[in-house]
Amino acid sequence: MVACDRRPGARGGAGSLRALVSGLRDTESDGVSVGVALGSGVFGAAGDRPRQLVPMPSFPGDLLDPAQSHGDVLIQLAGERVDDVRAAVERFESAVTGWRVRWRIEGFRAGNRMEGGRGLARNPFHFTEGFGNPADEREVLDRALVRDGQGEPAWAVGGSYQVVRIIRLATELWDKDSVHEQERIIGRRRDGRWLDGASVGEQPNFPADPRGRLTPLDSHVRLATPDRRRPAPLVRRGYGYDRGDGDTGLVFSCFQRDLAAGFETVQKRLAGEAMATYTLTTGGGYYFVPPPGDAWPAAVATG
Ligand code: HEM
Repeated sequence: MVACDRRPGARGGAGSLRALVSGLRDTESDGVSVGVALGSGVFGAAGDRPRQLVPMPSFPGDLLDPAQSHGDVLIQLAGERVDDVRAAVERFESAVTGWRVRWRIEGFRAGNRMEGGRGLARNPFHFTEGFGNPADEREVLDRALVRDGQGEPAWAVGGSYQVVRIIRLATELWDKDSVHEQERIIGRRRDGRWLDGASVGEQPNFPADPRGRLTPLDSHVRLATPDRRRPAPLVRRGYGYDRGDGDTGLVFSCFQRDLAAGFETVQKRLAGEAMATYTLTTGGGYYFVPPPGDAWPAAVATG
């Protein structure tokens, strides 16, 4: 991921969204996909900003470093081969002269695979993530994409709010705990099975465990989705990162049609979770992924 700001004074020309999009086209190559998301700062006073798009607030416990947070645009370059992705990042950075890099981070998905319709990967805490996402593609789109009638600008329908959180994980401390303790902090087994014996594809029976004897009440999944019939409308796709010197963690990323009902609801519920001792959010931001097609740079009209 590369977050960029428009260079001062470069509002038109090289600093326009059109120039950025054409730079992205030059960047794309075999095996490297390129995506763009807009931060609130890219919208001028006259810009038609998505209703909920503001700079990401600091949540309790966060220590947001401005040099790793926010940004006018967020570019995501993804591919199977790290050298290809790095070369694409270089091409991108030299193609877009009206924009300067604000922060960048390299993420990876260990053990990346599709299983039962879901993308899964292992995080730096050795747990497989992705089970909580819907397996059905229609349900994924329903959670992620802005709909007509939501009160959003017309150009934004079919787009998606993206939240990125750079979360440093205390992996040394975590690795001192037993696997059993770790699984009680997450609320699932490392391989995704539930602590009450339900299999990966089934639902756990939380009402039968009101005191959290099997699945602790302050475990991650129990707080994230207390009522299994009503999961928050968000779709997660995280990446591990390792910047050396023990700076290891998760580039948490999720998509939703409504920020308040999606990420913000879950983030508030997670306050006081057992995992908080091991995590520190140091950066990230709120962005908006425009709908597919070439119409949006004109509609966004920021110059
Ligand atoms: C601190 C770093 C985090 C770690 C290590 C982590 C890890 C996990 C793991 C292992 C699972 C279970 C497997 C799965 O369903 O994918 C999970 C589920 C989930 N996480 Fe996280 N997570 C983190 C941060 C967050 C954040 C910041 C949010 C949103 C605010 C979040 C929301 C969720 C949700 C909604 C689920 C699915 C719960 C369910 O329906 O079962 N996680 N996470």
